[in-house]
Amino acid sequence: MIVYFNDKYIPHDEVKISPFDRAFLFSDGVYEALRTYNCKLFRLDDHLKRLKYSLKELGINFNDFNLIENIFTHLADINNIKTEYSVYIQISRGVSYPRTHNYENSLTPNVFAFAKLIKDNNKEKNIGVKVILEKDLRWLRCDIKSTSLLPSVMASQKAIQNNAFEAILFRDDIITEGSHTNFFAVKNNTVFTAPLSNYILNGITRKVVLELCKENKIDFCEEHINVNELKNFDEFFITGTTTEVTPIIKIDDWIVSDGKPGIITLKIQELFFNTVKQV
Ligand code: PDD
Repeated sequence: MIVYFNDKYIPHDEVKISPFDRAFLFSDGVYEALRTYNCKLFRLDDHLKRLKYSLKELGINFNDFNLIENIFTHLADINNIKTEYSVYIQISRGVSYPRTHNYENSLTPNVFAFAKLIKDNNKEKNIGVKVILEKDLRWLRCDIKSTSLLPSVMASQKAIQNNAFEAILFRDDIITEGSHTNFFAVKNNTVFTAPLSNYILNGITRKVVLELCKENKIDFCEEHINVNELKNFDEFFITGTTTEVTPIIKIDDWIVSDGKPGIITLKIQELFFNTVKQV
């Protein structure tokens, strides 16, 4: 695979990075992941806005946002990718030697990006998935898309070990989001999802879904969902760049609404697929 690393396009195994890179030592870096529809980058501006926000919150010096679109499309070209693909970009604060927690403001970020073909997961989207409930062990700045992801990695791994697709996280009995997705519930035809705060990522797919609800007169509210009140809801789904809109049909051992995707969930899924088809 040819990847991008600091202005160069090179085979991935030729990338050389210092062990004193702060992302290696401290997870001191941010990332974005996006995908194409009709081979066009979906909601690039929203992703760039979120990337800028993450960088600003951590005080990482990077301003070459105008280069990013070209990097992504060039990665697809150079790797001969002709169908839908996803891209990942990671910007670390840079190298500081010797290791100290604090840093100089003048560090030069290391920028790494790659593109890969999107794996078809239509089965999950059509029939729905199982999720598990897990304690949210993450830090209090989940609004920053930081590469520091260990609690998410642990939760996701536990989900897989339990034959589940995702772990849905709760903090003090309040559901926040999934390990790598946003969480939605439906009650009496109203869609609920956690409000934006430092406890969740401002998901781009979440934003698209709420826009679609608004445009199509589907009632929604950004309100906390208590983990003990889940059984009062009729339907559940998760959203994310590659997860898109995926119905939940089982939460731990509880089979949700006869184990079939809910009606509102399917409606939102349809609206979502119609929207992305038209980009
Ligand atoms: N994850 N919440 C968390 C914690 C996430 O990591 C993600 C995305 C989302 C969904 O955001 P979006 O709709 O913008 O993809 C919500 C990406 C895909 C990842 O970590 O690879």
